[in-house]
Amino acid sequence: MTRRAPDAPFFEDLLAQRLTRRRVLQAGAAIAPAMVTGAMVGSALFAPTDARASKATQLGFKPIRGSSADAIVLPPGYTHDVLIRWGESLTSKVPDLDAARLDAGVLLEPNAAEHQRNQFGQNCDAIHFFPLKGRGDHGVLCVNNEYTDDALMFPGHPGFRGIRGGASRDYVKKHPQVVPVAKAAQGVSIVEIKRERGCWKFVKDSRFNRRITADTPISIGGPARGTALMRTKNDPAGERALGTFANCAGGETPWGTYLTAEENIQDYFANLDQLEARSDVDPFIVESHRRWRMWKNQSLYNWDIADARFDLATTPTEPFRFGWIVEIDPLDPTSTPIKRTALGRFAHEGASPVIAGNGQVAVYMGDDDKFEYVYKFISNGRFDAKNRAANRNLLDQGTLHVARFDASGKGQWLPLVFDPKGPLNAAAGFRDQADVLIKARMAAYLLGATPMDRPEDVEANPTTGRIYIACTRNESRTVEPGTMTYGGREIDSAPNAANPRSANANGHIIEITEDGEDHTSLEFSWEVFLLAGDPSGGRLITDMNELKSDSAYYAGYANAADLSAIASPDNIGFDRAGNLWMVSDGAQPDGSNNGCWVTPTVGPNRGRLQQFMSGPVGCEVCGCQFSPDDETLFISIQHPGEGGSTAEPRSHWPDGGDSQPRASVIAIRKEGGGVIGG
Ligand code: FEO
Ligand code: CA
Ligand code: CA
Repeated sequence: MTRRAPDAPFFEDLLAQRLTRRRVLQAGAAIAPAMVTGAMVGSALFAPTDARASKATQLGFKPIRGSSADAIVLPPGYTHDVLIRWGESLTSKVPDLDAARLDAGVLLEPNAAEHQRNQFGQNCDAIHFFPLKGRGDHGVLCVNNEYTDDALMFPGHPGFRGIRGGASRDYVKKHPQVVPVAKAAQGVSIVEIKRERGCWKFVKDSRFNRRITADTPISIGGPARGTALMRTKNDPAGERALGTFANCAGGETPWGTYLTAEENIQDYFANLDQLEARSDVDPFIVESHRRWRMWKNQSLYNWDIADARFDLATTPTEPFRFGWIVEIDPLDPTSTPIKRTALGRFAHEGASPVIAGNGQVAVYMGDDDKFEYVYKFISNGRFDAKNRAANRNLLDQGTLHVARFDASGKGQWLPLVFDPKGPLNAAAGFRDQADVLIKARMAAYLLGATPMDRPEDVEANPTTGRIYIACTRNESRTVEPGTMTYGGREIDSAPNAANPRSANANGHIIEITEDGEDHTSLEFSWEVFLLAGDPSGGRLITDMNELKSDSAYYAGYANAADLSAIASPDNIGFDRAGNLWMVSDGAQPDGSNNGCWVTPTVGPNRGRLQQFMSGPVGCEVCGCQFSPDDETLFISIQHPGEGGSTAEPRSHWPDGGDSQPRASVIAIRKEGGGVIGG
């Protein structure tokens, strides 16, 4: 989802005024060449003559233009099925959501939460496919359900618009039954799916079907398990949390488990101001919650009204049990999910494991907030391809690292390790390794990590091993060199080599090559792969030294007429040929809807980005997961109709007519079969 600002006076408003003024002054001024040296150094590494180019699928579809239609738009010869909608029941024990009765208050009825606990969740995001019996046409799909847009669920709920002024809080006070429904609508949905005669269907009543919600018991694993900050009144041992929520992107392990990423957890906790006013609370707890920009009084979702876990004044340590990567075994519906604390606590966008040459497992991760960081975990143990059970706890022991991008085009992975000699020691507020992981953002800051423009997905290309980081945007990246306070720490907010644009409204993608092409390496080379934007009208550059504030850069590709505009790349994925696919979450340069794009990463067409799909009105496009044969592309359509209400829907997708919009997973395929994009 798009991060929403707390209701306190927010510095972006002030900054926007400053930027407007500065933009006038800066128009046309090139950014200093010193800032882009990295890109120039890196360019030589992946020249278009790369031998791996021959492996790349020749993309042969006719690209679409951006669209504002309330529909899925695809190239000629492609079609899609709606695989599963929010509210479709996974079991015949409860009925499907009667979406036609949303505005009549069907979700305020007494059985609504119990039904939602057995139905596909709201606002689907990450998708991962786990084959059954090695088959590519039959498997288990794990899908995140990130958040609820309450205005699209409950009649008269003012939703996010009602935060300022407290109207949303008043609604939840009057109708506290919305909280258990919203909690049941989040988390993860696991469903068995099958392809029959080319068309994917989900299997109702499958033994694999399962919902994991904001109340499901989840074990805490790794170094933070049982430590002081993880304990609460309800769980004095600090070993078992209730639930997972704000599940954004995810990943899958080589041993066939699902990783779900807890992202904007700060938006669920209320009353930081009351905690700040108390003298009996460990100041590091308060400092940590400030670092997360938790809400001063009311929260975005007001869950505290019905569940004291979300009231910081009552349960100050509850937030420490969220903001983790959670591992789920989709093939064992009775298994307890586990929070893997060794991977650190931050606003996890996703987690992408890769097996290094020596068998150790590297997990690449982004922290999606402005000026946050990119991380890599390296396991101590090694992957055992012959013994699935032996890999079960690989993610509990290892070292978390954070990235520093140097202007030379090189970079380093800095270890987040407690050391009495410093810098991560008691004097800096860390008593042990658990503290370092729980407060990973603070530790990363102290190590000098590079503050990025909202790092979303970080994924490895399966054919080249290169790592791609989608930085979705950061309008707060300042124009002037300088320092600002953000997230409770002073930060250099000026452009840097890896985030070269001020007021970065369109986002960019960074490409990393680990030294020795070894995923356990602590040094790497990097370059800017894409500066998103509109490449038409002379804005396309092929030399980063020519960078201006409105430039677009597509890995050096020179022919603007071949290219599609894009803004706010978010989730990324790869087909087996190594083409980079991306979906978006933000205003597109031409005002069209969010969509899906693809570009080769090697060969003469490296950087030739073309639009493949456009989504319905108001949606964000998430997921981007291929079936094992690359003949299906699974996509999540999240929050169609955002900005509307049950009384006045802005979208009628997917069911048309005067129906309510419903977030859904779609399966895109070629008419008559064939590899997607080919
Ligand atoms: Fe939930 Fe970072 O997008
Ligand atoms: Ca996003
Ligand atoms: Ca996302």
